[in-house]
Amino acid sequence: MSTFTMDTSTSRATPSPVPGRRTTVPAIRDRKQDGRTEQPIVMLTAYTMRMAQLLDPHCDMLLVGDSLGQVIYGLPSTIPVTLEMMCAHGAAVVRGSWHALVAVDMPFGSYEASPEQAFQSAARIMQETGCAAVKLEGGEAMASTVSFLTQRGIPVVGHVGLTPQAVNALGGYGPRGRNQLEAARIVSDASAIAQAGAFCLVAEGVMEEIATKIAKTVDVPVIGIGASAECDGQVLVTEDMLGLFERTPRFVKRYDDLASRIGEAASAYAREVRERTFPTADQTYRPKP
Ligand code: KIV
Repeated sequence: MSTFTMDTSTSRATPSPVPGRRTTVPAIRDRKQDGRTEQPIVMLTAYTMRMAQLLDPHCDMLLVGDSLGQVIYGLPSTIPVTLEMMCAHGAAVVRGSWHALVAVDMPFGSYEASPEQAFQSAARIMQETGCAAVKLEGGEAMASTVSFLTQRGIPVVGHVGLTPQAVNALGGYGPRGRNQLEAARIVSDASAIAQAGAFCLVAEGVMEEIATKIAKTVDVPVIGIGASAECDGQVLVTEDMLGLFERTPRFVKRYDDLASRIGEAASAYAREVRERTFPTADQTYRPKP
């Protein structure tokens, strides 16, 4: 377990012992060799400095996902998420991490219009946050944008299958690839984005068979969420995996039940405040004897 020394001038917490170099884009890309990934890539979402500190020692990549719209801001979807939100949370996560590669989602409306629009938005995200990569959703239609960005020094994580920013077009958040035509399109989307230069891909909410096929077909690492254990890595929304929500999608495994534990702690605090048993002498400033 790391301990941290806080630099109060920058709010930067320095872990002790200080880890080595931050994981790089080529290091993630090269995890997959000849179609195989010996050591699966561990990715979790993070939106805040403290969560980044806690997750960083365990993760290869931290994703500042636009899922923060629902998780942090209580929005109905990722569609209202703005570049300002992504930049603020991205910078916090970079400040709270030392080891993991930080990738920040490009929000809806910030990249789809043209490769030039995508470049402006991605450059702003990278300049304001210090992250190493951006993630964008979409398949063949976004391939020219991925190529434009990667040729100009912006590492891109692709995202295919269930693409939540397209929820209105898709009609919901159900798994994709239930018929042969859609399955074939998802596989060709993944290939197009990988060939365009993405250094890894997220495959979300697809039938297991399709995820396995994508992982076998593309030569960059494929990180699954609601996909397949055969993927080259896995990602989950941290708050889902910690059990902070009553309802989670079927593909989430809850590794804790933090919602109950927070409820218990808040209830104990409320009781002690009402009984006047908190604060005690231990938590009270008194003149030294
Ligand atoms: O926004 C997000 O958190 C994501 C992950 C679910 C992959 O895109």
